[in-house]
Amino acid sequence: MRIAVLRETAPAETRVALTPETARKFIALGATVAVESGAGIAASITDAAYAEAGVQVGDAAQTMSGADIVMAVQAPDPAALAGANPGALVAATFDPFGRRERVDAYAAAGFEALAMEFMPRITRAQSMDVLSSQSNLAGYKAVIAAADVYGRAFPMMMTAAGTVQAAKVFVMGVGVAGLQAIATARRLGAQVSATDVRSATREQIQSLGAKPVFVENVAGIEGEGSGGYATEMSAEYQQAQAELVSGHLAKQDIVVTTALIPGRAAPRLISDAQIATMKPGSVIFDLAVAQGGNVEGSVADQMVEKHGVKIIGFANTPATVPADASALYARNLYNFLSAFWDKDQGRPVLDAEIGDAVRLTRGGAVVNERLLERGA
Ligand code: NAI
Repeated sequence: MRIAVLRETAPAETRVALTPETARKFIALGATVAVESGAGIAASITDAAYAEAGVQVGDAAQTMSGADIVMAVQAPDPAALAGANPGALVAATFDPFGRRERVDAYAAAGFEALAMEFMPRITRAQSMDVLSSQSNLAGYKAVIAAADVYGRAFPMMMTAAGTVQAAKVFVMGVGVAGLQAIATARRLGAQVSATDVRSATREQIQSLGAKPVFVENVAGIEGEGSGGYATEMSAEYQQAQAELVSGHLAKQDIVVTTALIPGRAAPRLISDAQIATMKPGSVIFDLAVAQGGNVEGSVADQMVEKHGVKIIGFANTPATVPADASALYARNLYNFLSAFWDKDQGRPVLDAEIGDAVRLTRGGAVVNERLLERGA
């Protein structure tokens, strides 16, 4: 069983799907592991560190030759996998809804594409969940990046020259990223409040020492859809939320938005008119900018200034913390593949619950139910 990892080729992708730690573990399972020279360097992993772990380091063609499993952060164009064995497993993120043509190309090339972002949200798959591991770091980095461009300090400071007030931070969307954003802002000494459409998050917000800001008076909203994800809210709820949030936003110094709805554009949470009510010098970090943005006017990888408010957001936030993001991503992949490792066959044999959820293509066809429901 040969596992191959190429250099990532997507622009500004700094992560890598294999670390020396996970390479050792795959080798202990009986696999041969090969990596393209330089694949880890942006994540501070040298070729020498891979070689020391027992990995074969070579050029792309040497690496791919005879591969049974290919691991990547962002799925490469299938043409890059020339030399891999027919039907090879490719475990990576595929953005299956956004990049359907790439999924079709994987089917045509005869590979078995396994989309890590389709991992079901069940307890036993928690350690395999790349969305969680990467969102956690993204939530942290959003606060650090916002703090960096904020012209004031976060903690209250009582000095001989007078008192510096604590920053007010508001987190919108309290999933994995939002919880880490709250925790990070609290550690920096800010006064933190947060909101979500899922009522289950209220207690989580409080347990982190932040103030929940929730719509109270609209009947029949729970906001929780399948698998713990948010659903789209009614027009009545959206109106009530907009009014509540408007009053609160005007008093905030930093706002971090993280709201996502799987398979859809990110919900719009902050309008230009609301930005106009905020204090000059405030900062908004839009973590959903790559999915269409929660904030009107946000642009990926740019700082836009509107009404004196700085609006920032990265297209790929986890890639700004590449060493930790790679370490966690690589462990997610190891936890996934090793959980299904069949000792007799010396390869992973996926079960139906997880295998059918993540598998996009097999035997030359697109086989994933979520994708097929959507049509071509
Ligand atoms: P996500 O990235 O899909 O969305 C981020 C947050 O935005 C969510 O909390 C969502 O409710 C919120 N949101 C959506 N629309 C909104 C709106 N209009 N206004 C305000 N907030 C809005 O969510 P994420 O981080 O992936 O987590 C969702 C849930 O899944 C969490 O409860 C998490 O603990 C759970 N989870 C479970 C896993 C497992 O059991 N294996 C793995 C990962 C997460």
